[in-house]
Amino acid sequence: LERAVRDAIRSGALRPGVRLPASRELAAQLGVSRGVVTDAYRQLEAQGFLQTAARLAPLVADVARARRPLPTRPAAPTVAPRFDFTATTPDVALFPAHTWARAAAEGLRRLPVEHLDYGDPRGLPHLREALADHLSRTRGVIVDPDRILVVQGTAQATDLLLRILCDRGVDAVAVEDPSFHRQRDQVQRHGMRLRAWPVDRDGVVVGTTDAGAALLTPAHQFPTGAVLSGERRRALLAWAAEHGALLVEDDYDAEFRYDREPVRALQGLDPRRVTYLGTASKTCAPALRLGWLVVPDEFLDMAIREKRLLDDASPVLEQAAFSALLRSGEYDRQVHRARAIYKKRRDALVEALERMLPDCEIHGIAAGLHILLELPAGLDDVAIAAAAAGAGIHVEPVASYQIRRADTRPALVVGYGRLSEHAIPLAVRSLARVVKRGGTR
Ligand SMILES: Cc1ncc(COP(=O)(O)O)c(C=O)c1O
Repeated sequence: LERAVRDAIRSGALRPGVRLPASRELAAQLGVSRGVVTDAYRQLEAQGFLQTAARLAPLVADVARARRPLPTRPAAPTVAPRFDFTATTPDVALFPAHTWARAAAEGLRRLPVEHLDYGDPRGLPHLREALADHLSRTRGVIVDPDRILVVQGTAQATDLLLRILCDRGVDAVAVEDPSFHRQRDQVQRHGMRLRAWPVDRDGVVVGTTDAGAALLTPAHQFPTGAVLSGERRRALLAWAAEHGALLVEDDYDAEFRYDREPVRALQGLDPRRVTYLGTASKTCAPALRLGWLVVPDEFLDMAIREKRLLDDASPVLEQAAFSALLRSGEYDRQVHRARAIYKKRRDALVEALERMLPDCEIHGIAAGLHILLELPAGLDDVAIAAAAAGAGIHVEPVASYQIRRADTRPALVVGYGRLSEHAIPLAVRSLARVVKRGGTR
């Protein structure tokens, strides 16, 4: 059904603005269950072919335009919430401002003046050398400095890779479901189709096989918090080898594992098939817009070309500062310090949730900046999050990160990057009141 409607839209047989039958009506006409139709409609909406609104039958989107304006996400609240459980940001107050200022001065003092000119799109050679050492030591990434590109965050790394994939004729990309919505928007922005691969306690499950690439968070799945099991790692690598596909490993918060050493990067198992992405957004601050991309040889020339086209190269003074931070050992100290603080926050959060919301189940390994809180069956996570907003609490329902809603238990993605340790019990008490009222104000 999904394919038939998509083909009809693509061929022009179904024109933009046409209203399709309501799911109940179409299900009756076709003699299938209503769930089949709503699933197909949801997929088509996620791919940009349909526009839907609550209680209205879907409209055929203008596909040429639908690939640009993307689904609008709710705007960030204008009034700061009393308790902020945002899952995607670190505590920016932990940014080591004085140390950074020293590193910036040191980096500039040691910067050969020719690096102030247009330079290598991959970034400063001495930063790439320091990154290669750091990544092989801490993450088991197999890398030489030549295959590293310093980029403006994971955001730019993803965009750059999607440009290359587009050029190579890839028209479908697999993403984890649920996953970080920005990456899904990026896939659709490039006119590629999304393939939703489900996630369980062992991480992502290899799904449909017509995708030319898969975007993944193996060390700490966002947002379920699962770690990809050994068996799944092997299954993914086998899938990629069989289909000549690229695996993109988004290693966004692996520095923060609290109970043991983090699992080594997937890239270390097959550097020819896995592209590795890292970022300073969680360990330092998102505002730096500093990340790194390790590409397989096969993609190197294309990646350099795309980076040159995008912005010529990443800002050099930040690179010089970050290089000084890495080389002096201050970066390791910053990660160590932040890890100890977040561990305490996570412990405080888990303790408060177990005490005040014993009917909810906490998911996810002891890592990163968030947990997934499964609500008792029958509750609606979207309604709970809306009621929480009314009570001055910002928390995201897992629904905001899902492509398909089928078969999943309601859950909240509870972040602790923006809450101090002492505020956590108070915040959980407020949240517990909302949950116990069952999502009503
Ligand atoms: C899954 C995932 N990847 C990457 C990032 C960071 O992106 P960037 O490096 O562009 O700041 C985030 C931030 O929340 C994330 O959740």
